[in-house]
Amino acid sequence: MALVPYEEAAAVGLQKFHKPVATFSFADRTIRIRQDWRQLGVAAVVWDAAVVLAAYLEMGAVELRGRAAVELGAGTGLVGIVAALLGAHVTITDRKVALDFLKSNVQANLPPHIQPKAVVKELTWGQNLGSFSSGEFDLILGADIIYLEETFTDLLQTLEHLCSNHSVILLACRIRYERDSNFLAMLERQFTELEFNSPTFEWALDLVAHFYIKREKW
Ligand SMILES: C[S@@+](CC[C@H](N)C(=O)[O-])C[C@H]1O[C@@H](n2cnc3c(N)ncnc32)[C@H](O)[C@@H]1O
Repeated sequence: MALVPYEEAAAVGLQKFHKPVATFSFADRTIRIRQDWRQLGVAAVVWDAAVVLAAYLEMGAVELRGRAAVELGAGTGLVGIVAALLGAHVTITDRKVALDFLKSNVQANLPPHIQPKAVVKELTWGQNLGSFSSGEFDLILGADIIYLEETFTDLLQTLEHLCSNHSVILLACRIRYERDSNFLAMLERQFTELEFNSPTFEWALDLVAHFYIKREKW
């Protein structure tokens, strides 16, 4: 019998997380995102849901030009970068530990005239929400942020704080466990799900992520 050491990179489907750079094409630009799974884990790789959300933004179903947007749990910042390239003023947020890496990806991928439209800032869900004005954002973005049950209450509180009556929340998520669906049920009690009407995005619904658009209940 031989003991074969577990090699993360060999796991099917995970190889892409071990590439030092992930390359995408959005908003007529090539975006090169640096990844570092070994140093920062989930916050330093691009998840499929981020690609789905970025592609959705690029479709133009939601007005971004001049809008104030915030990305929660941004990780490498792909979604926030694409939102800024498409004309939004974006606050790109994550936990403190992820911020330096996030900043370096944002700076590397935004041309100088767009840099002022993107701010990287700490936002740990449920904490120090006073540093964000209540209802200050038109658009709240989140890719693959529904995965830790212990954060659900804080995440919900954060969404409530950031939303005004006209805010739209766009979440791309892979539903892995029952608890993830439970979180969506919690959301539906406090926000209205908008009809999702986009045949070109069915591949995402089937293969990559469930996609939700929610608006605060009137
Ligand atoms: C699965 S990763 C998704 C990253 C990125 N949105 C993407 O899709 O590529 C989840 C992200 O949520 C962040 N996160 C986890 N718990 C958090 C918390 N309590 N407050 C803020 N961010 C959190 C992690 O740091 C990580 O960047």
